[in-house]
Amino acid sequence: MSVVYQACRQFNRLIGSSTINRVSYKFLSTGKSYEYIITEKKGEKQNVGMITLNRPKALNALCDALMREVNDALSNFESDSSIGAVILTGSEKAFAAGADIKEMKNHIYSLTIKENFLAHWSAVSQCRKPVIAAVNGYALGGGCELAMMCDIIYAGDKAKFGQPEITIGTIPGAGGTQRLTRVVGKSKAMEMCLTGTPISSQEAEKLGLVSKVVPADQLLTEALKLAEKIASHSKLTTVMCKEAVNAAYETTLAQGLLFEKRMFHGTFATADQKEGMAAFAEKRPPSFKDN
Ligand code: CAA
Repeated sequence: MSVVYQACRQFNRLIGSSTINRVSYKFLSTGKSYEYIITEKKGEKQNVGMITLNRPKALNALCDALMREVNDALSNFESDSSIGAVILTGSEKAFAAGADIKEMKNHIYSLTIKENFLAHWSAVSQCRKPVIAAVNGYALGGGCELAMMCDIIYAGDKAKFGQPEITIGTIPGAGGTQRLTRVVGKSKAMEMCLTGTPISSQEAEKLGLVSKVVPADQLLTEALKLAEKIASHSKLTTVMCKEAVNAAYETTLAQGLLFEKRMFHGTFATADQKEGMAAFAEKRPPSFKDN
């Protein structure tokens, strides 16, 4: 029994058990407890963090509280040195059907500016560890945008990707006009954003939005295989590699190539480069120490 658990029990006994006490007691006794997501450690070496969006009644619509939980879980996996990659997934019916329309329908303009509405969503794209979106079912609006904030998208064969905001009188607000256009090009992005019509996972794969399509019931197995493979490498080198690939979106070719070259040079200052290359020469598997 943890010290926190015991202290909580004693505290509740002393002052009686109001609802608030019971809630905090449950939270503290179970470690991290979330309302809209499930978090687990997965893989043979327990080195993959899995976040499952779990708001089935609303097809995982991304209400504010859900996105805050995702950010919190990601930040915990980020600071957990045993975790080498994270999978973000939903249910078989929906990865996520977008931002919560009912929650935002009465928002007023001045407040969206004052509170910088949806600004906290970008935390997903700032995670330094690789994040894989495993998408089954609907990835619409903010759901498609959330998947695009991840580094790699695997999709089930019945998944649907779309930006339907135009059909409800608004436009994509979490990267749909920008990330989608950079990936699929102007014509297709325009078509998707201006019609709101979703595309299939097969089309998404052809366009380069998705890197692999698998039967829906094998999606998590395949995503986990991918995550374990990524997590088997040096976490230090992985951060450098992810930063270099991401630089391709933010720089000119010349700046990006220079950044890549300096990162490449930088790997020679790491013990993991010495270990990786020595292991190759000695015909044995490397044992990376992440330094
Ligand atoms: N927000 C809030 N609730 C949602 C939702 C959303 N984005 N999507 C679905 N739901 C709710 C429905 O209201 C319904 O709730 P009730 O049972 O309480 O009525 C429940 O989820 C099930 O949905 P449906 O009955 O509509 O299910 P369906 O299978 O008939 O249709 C669907 C599925 C095609 C995905 C349809 O739900 C739909 O079109 N959803 C909205 C998609 C959308 O427009 N997304 C963009 C949102 S705006 C945005 O994301 C802005 C941004 O860029 C950040």
